[in-house]
Amino acid sequence: MGIQISPSILSADFARLAEEVAVISDAADWVHVDVMDNHFVPNLTLGLPVVEALLRHSALPLDCHLMIEDPDRWAPAYAEAGAKSVTIHAEAAKAPVRTLRMIRAAGARASLALNPATPIDAYEDLLDEVDMILLMTVEPGFGGQRFLDLVLPKIRRARDLIRGRDLDIWLQVDGGVAADTIERAAEAGADVFVAGNAVYGAADPAAAIEDLRALAEKKAAHPRPIGFGRA
Ligand code: DX5
Ligand code: ZN
Repeated sequence: MGIQISPSILSADFARLAEEVAVISDAADWVHVDVMDNHFVPNLTLGLPVVEALLRHSALPLDCHLMIEDPDRWAPAYAEAGAKSVTIHAEAAKAPVRTLRMIRAAGARASLALNPATPIDAYEDLLDEVDMILLMTVEPGFGGQRFLDLVLPKIRRARDLIRGRDLDIWLQVDGGVAADTIERAAEAGADVFVAGNAVYGAADPAAAIEDLRALAEKKAAHPRPIGFGRA
């Protein structure tokens, strides 16, 4: 899989969600849906009923990012409803292995998110359980924040871990991704890019997606072939 763009509807008009998704349908790969419960993060957005309604109206697969206190209780239901990717937070899950397996068993891609201050190294042994790692490049809770460059070394480490194990795991970044930041995230090894403000704040959201994709493709880290450099 190459570069993928997953626009976040957090920055869209919540009163016209179906139309807002239609606007990006030809240009985007996913629709990123931010579920917030006002406990794990200090903001409240939407939950399963709205996701079920979106599933009936979206031509794109849903990428559900659960910023909620009890993902073990709720995450499998998003997969069962038909979301094609479900992300839980490492900081919130009490039984991440069981929950990730339940997401996969329900037919969705299972993904684990890490906040900026959460190290990747502690989750190395869980890599076989995930289809994607989401590295937050802002503190979660709100759109329109500044990209945190301090996450770049973690993106590189995560990409090296994935490569070292020869796994096909996508590496998503979320927060402050825009034309002036996407290149360094791509260069560090990210391949799935969430963008809220940079897409829905643009006059032409579809054109903004194509611009972001072109910038990321230009900088995408080229995989080092296994065994390269060895005698
Ligand atoms: C933040 C959310 C993001 C947010 C990104 O907690 O997880 O998905 O919508 O918005 P931008 O791209 O505006 O930073
Ligand atoms: Zn998100």
